[in-house]
Amino acid sequence: MNKNAIGIFDSGLGGLTILQALRRTLPHEDLIYFGDSANVPYGSKSKQTVTRFSLAIAHFLESQHVKMIIVACNTASALALPELRRQCRVPVLGVIEPGAQCAAQSTHNNKIAVLGTEATVKSNAYAKAIRKRLPQARITQQACPLFVPLVEENWAHAPATRLIAQTYLAPVLRSKADTLILGCTHYPVLKSVIAGIVGPRVKLVDSAETVAQATRCFLTQHHQAETAGRGKLTVYASDDPARFKRLAGCLLADRIGTVHLKKLNV
Ligand code: DGL
Repeated sequence: MNKNAIGIFDSGLGGLTILQALRRTLPHEDLIYFGDSANVPYGSKSKQTVTRFSLAIAHFLESQHVKMIIVACNTASALALPELRRQCRVPVLGVIEPGAQCAAQSTHNNKIAVLGTEATVKSNAYAKAIRKRLPQARITQQACPLFVPLVEENWAHAPATRLIAQTYLAPVLRSKADTLILGCTHYPVLKSVIAGIVGPRVKLVDSAETVAQATRCFLTQHHQAETAGRGKLTVYASDDPARFKRLAGCLLADRIGTVHLKKLNV
């Protein structure tokens, strides 16, 4: 058993979808969430920049004595995971592998589509992770650069969002994919809009649940799971914590309490 907290980070609000699943699956664990609201979006930035931000956050989380770090951001998982693993003393879990595994298991026609940020799509991280498990997979990838600002602005249910989603999803519909990976942790906030366009025959893979299960397996295997008491949540944002808290309240059913300001030296 290890009483230290689990550290989780994202460029902004998107990783809260993973935080929510972790709180349900691991209710006894203390969690520290870091939203890099000063630097969002990551998806249009270079590998060097995303790696620099990710390392600064990981070092801050390590200074809070976390027992492991979950990179609740597909872009940072796609671009910075090897460097994070090299430099961190604690285990680091990304979101791409659990999502790819879930998609490879659930497709019936071997046609999988991936929605992600520009950087995630360009990295081909999902395509590589899916082909490792399903070499015959036919993969369609679509970058959706407007989705993150729409979520961060709380525009998930605006009519403009549906029009934009229809445009982004046209190639996915043409591909006849039966499985669609929401390859950015912001996108589950748009799940009902996306599901309404692709229809019930397309399975949406949102890595929140799979990441929470992978975390539970990891902690149990390493005898580090907390088994009693109610886990405490601490939230940091790198800019405007009041705005972060307000928007988080619009997106999530759960309350996140006080959001603390922690500026990054990057
Ligand atoms: N939510 C993140 C992801 O999963 C980052 C999106 C962004 O900052 O562009 O990719």
